[in-house]
Amino acid sequence: MKIEFGGAGAGMRIRFVSKEQPGVSKAEFSAKPNKTLYLREEKALCVGIGEKFDGQTLRSAAGTAIRALQKIGITRAALDVAPWISHVEAIVEGAVLAAYRFDKFKAANGPAFETLRLLNAPAAAKARARSAAAAAEAANYARDLANQPGNVIWPETLAAEARGLAARKKLGVKIYDEKMLRAGGFGGLLAVGGGSARGPRLIVLEHKGAPRSKEVIALVGKAITFDSGGISLKNPEHMEEMIFDKCGGMAVLGAMAGIADLGLRRNVVGVIASAENLPGPDAYRPGDIVTAYDGKHIEIINTDAEGRVVLADAIGYARKEKKAAAIIDLATLTGAIGVALGDYAAGLWSTSDALRAELLEAAAASGERLWPMPLYQEYSDQIESQVALLKNTGGRLGGSCTAAAFLKTFAGETPWAHLDIAYTASLEKERPDLARGATGFGVRTLIRLVENWKPV
Ligand code: BES
Ligand code: MN
Ligand code: ZN
Repeated sequence: MKIEFGGAGAGMRIRFVSKEQPGVSKAEFSAKPNKTLYLREEKALCVGIGEKFDGQTLRSAAGTAIRALQKIGITRAALDVAPWISHVEAIVEGAVLAAYRFDKFKAANGPAFETLRLLNAPAAAKARARSAAAAAEAANYARDLANQPGNVIWPETLAAEARGLAARKKLGVKIYDEKMLRAGGFGGLLAVGGGSARGPRLIVLEHKGAPRSKEVIALVGKAITFDSGGISLKNPEHMEEMIFDKCGGMAVLGAMAGIADLGLRRNVVGVIASAENLPGPDAYRPGDIVTAYDGKHIEIINTDAEGRVVLADAIGYARKEKKAAAIIDLATLTGAIGVALGDYAAGLWSTSDALRAELLEAAAASGERLWPMPLYQEYSDQIESQVALLKNTGGRLGGSCTAAAFLKTFAGETPWAHLDIAYTASLEKERPDLARGATGFGVRTLIRLVENWKPV
């Protein structure tokens, strides 16, 4: 979808309507958020924004407008942004995210939305709109990969995609295949990937936006291309949704694409741990003791707690090999985060108050909710093992927090944050402003984090 500026205001108009200033001829329009009213004669689509609106209200309203127009076959529209000038970024993000549809295997209903024309945008707002469009396109790129199933995307094909991205965006790239993983001592990735005929990969992407600085920000992502649970096999109900178990890694890939497009002046390394978790003949088993990249030993209790095992390697690599100044990992890590927060927010854990604050700020500006969660010593006690440094599960209680406590071990003294995006990364059903499937959660927050980075 294209964002354009200016021009005569002919053609279809989008109008945001608040409760105080209806400005709409039809008195019956309630102006409730995301309610729409199509005025055929006036060639206008009204979208309610309620009484107290903020950036997120407008982001969502813009999305609702685009999807409503797309449904009736309208592919171009204009919006006067003068009244909403401080929220131009949110509006553009909402529009670009809403225009995305996954139509690789089934033709979409009607033509794709083509152009949103912003009227009365001053130069500074145009620049902000262009950056916002780039960030949202990066999120759509992540969604398009995440939506593809396990027989289309597996670690090797994902690595090939990352190589192509690196070439297009002029990013550094290194792919560790199984031989290199063995030589490098990546015991976690090799263990989890062992059960699949399609072996694991570690994908490393580098953006050198500040060549004179030694500071490197590491973005780490879990990319399990399909999670069956392995020997600790999952129930069949909803198992097909485990194609979305790569969303943390896709968020990192998308963020790297956006960071490169925007030419952000920071050094950023993206580390994506990719494996397929299947119960094949070489699968890892409960009771196994796995040696992670940094030499720490993990007792496997449940092979379905595989995300933390591959992330142990990736986080250790970011710390030891890349000497990262900060590590931020994203993972569809636990079902328990859905029990705790629903699909309304991702859990956020951090060993650094400064890093946590920066993430909360970037997320708030992006309309992606993060909720701070604790790292009490007791969670670490819960995953103490009799035979190794730690075990990969700690029982039912506090399941998301013991998973975070596990990851913390591998970050060592490096400032670290973890986002559990298990239920925010994908939608079962479409929303007025967003298609079903992968949401691209985290991409825009990560881009904003790097954009506004203050050393931690
Ligand atoms: N990928 C899952 C987490 C998940 C569950 C994501 C539901 C999205 C929706 C993860 O690998 C997993 O299986 N976690 C287990 C951990 C348990 C075995 C300690 C879980 O949450 O049940
Ligand atoms: Mn699992
Ligand atoms: Zn998983």
